[in-house]
Parts: sequence; C-alpha cells; structure tokens
Amino acid sequence: MTESTCLSVSQLHEMNRLAWNEAAAKYDADIADTIAFLQSGKTNFCPPELPYLNDLSAWCHRAIHLQCAGGRDTMSLWKLGAKEVIGLDISDRMIAAAKRVSDILQAPAHWHCCDVLSAPDELNATADLIYTGRGALGWIMDITAWAGVVARLLKPSGKLYIFEGHPLDWVWTPNASTLQIDPNPPFGDYFSIQPDQSKGWPESYIPPASVLPAEQQSLKHERQWKLGDIINSLITAGLIIERFEEHPDMFWDKLPQLSPDITRRLPQTFSLLVRKPAN
Ligand SMILES: C[S@@+](CC[C@H](N)C(=O)[O-])C[C@H]1O[C@@H](n2cnc3c(N)ncnc32)[C@H](O)[C@@H]1O
Repeated sequence: MTESTCLSVSQLHEMNRLAWNEAAAKYDADIADTIAFLQSGKTNFCPPELPYLNDLSAWCHRAIHLQCAGGRDTMSLWKLGAKEVIGLDISDRMIAAAKRVSDILQAPAHWHCCDVLSAPDELNATADLIYTGRGALGWIMDITAWAGVVARLLKPSGKLYIFEGHPLDWVWTPNASTLQIDPNPPFGDYFSIQPDQSKGWPESYIPPASVLPAEQQSLKHERQWKLGDIINSLITAGLIIERFEEHPDMFWDKLPQLSPDITRRLPQTFSLLVRKPAN
C-alpha cells in the first residue's frame, strides 16, 4: 500500500490543486498569446474534435467546460458558436487567468473555482454541451462520481463530448527511442488502478523558464482510467453512448523519440460522444 491509497478523494484533489497552481504560472505567462490567438479567429481544438463541435451555433446555448485550465479551450467553444461558456477548474490561479482572458475579450463567460465533483447546484440541468479532456480525467480519483456530475449538469438531450488521451499511452516508456513497455509501476500496466505520485512537470509542458523546478514542489496524483471504466461510469449515470472513436492524433508529444510512422499505428486519443435522455 502506498501513502496515496490512505488519502481520501478530496485530499488527493486538494494536493492536485496546489500542484496545478504551480503550473498555472505558465498559463499566466500565456495570457497575451491566448488573447492574440483568439482574436485572430483561431480555435484551440485538434482535427479529430472539429466534426463533433462544428455546428455549435445551431444548438448550443450553454457550454460547460470541466477542468478548463486557463480558458483557451473554453473560449474556443465560444468562438465556435456557443452563446455562453462556463469554465470550471479546481485551481484558483487557472480560473484567475481564464477570467482575465474573457474580461479583455468581453466574452459571455463565467468561471467557477471548485472541484469538478462539487460543481455548484446552480449549474444543474443547464448544459447543452459539456466539453472536457486533453489531460483531464486522469486527475479525477472517482470516475463514478465524475459521471454523476456530468449527468447532473446536462440538460435533457444535452451532450457530453470528451477528447482525451488514450489510456494505452500510460503503458509506453515516454522517452524511449523504440516502443517499450514502461518498467516503472504504476506505468506499463494497462490494468493498474494505482495513482502515480510525483512532483514537477515535464519540461515540454511547463518550461523551467515559466516555473522554476524549485517551485514545482507540490505532490500530485494522476491515474489512468481504462476505456471500460469511463464508458461504464457514464452508462451507470443513465447516459447514452452515441459514438466512440480512437484516433492516431496526439494533443501533446508524449513519445518525442518516436516517429509518427510508429506512433500513428497506435491509438493516441479517443473521442466519446454521450447524450442525456430527453426525459
Ligand atoms: C491538463 S489541464 C486541462 C487541459 C486543458 N485542456 C488545457 O489545454 O490546458 C488539467 C486541469 O484540470 C484541473 N483539475 C485537476 N483536478 C481537478 C478537479 N478535481 N476538479 C476540477 N479541476 C481539476 C487542473 O487545475 C488543470 O487546470
């Protein structure tokens, strides 16, 4: 048994909040770039996501983005046609960065700083779309409770769209020059339920120039959810699976020593589209 298995879900999430507050310095540093990016008319989504998000102006009044970080993706949902966007994140520094972006752009955006598992009741049954992913689900230590929150926030007939790292990416050694199963537990085992406990962030994600390694001191916990865990949690919450796809596309370079000729033979990400029943 490791130390982390003795801690409650809310204790683990609180530790993750402190770690994400450290990483938020990079998002702070990116605010001007995020504003220029959005003002230029670009959106932050990866090619596999676009078919799922292409007609928002026709049906999406309110989009709720769970684990919105600095709001770049949330604001991209507005740019794609959502009339109002709501971002929710556990990190107060992330939420402050996101609010600065939407204030400057005078966007119809609202932000909530909270654990996704404690999403405020005022949001119940208000989302036409819930969007999440790209490094989100691994930080949630209770996937059943998470799926219950999704079901609670969706309007009848509302949709959840997830674009997330494929759980198989947990298995490979990140910096190897050939495809190798990671020998370091809990990695290398698709069926592991053990959270990884670590400090600090990969330099490719949080460059030392934006957060010095000495300032990356908070212990964080991340785990992998199997595809079956995610899909079954949503079915148990009473939601209907509409479409599931696996993609060779990555949203960050998790295997930097391997050529696309190799990585594109494996699933790197997935899309999951889910609907709440009409009644
Ligand atoms: C990898 S980032 C999200 C990725 C986002 N798509 C982006 O590109 O920045 C993960 C986010 O999840 C948030 N987070 C982690 N645990 C959370 C929780 N329990 N409730 C709400 N937000 C959480 C972190 O603060 C962080 O902003």
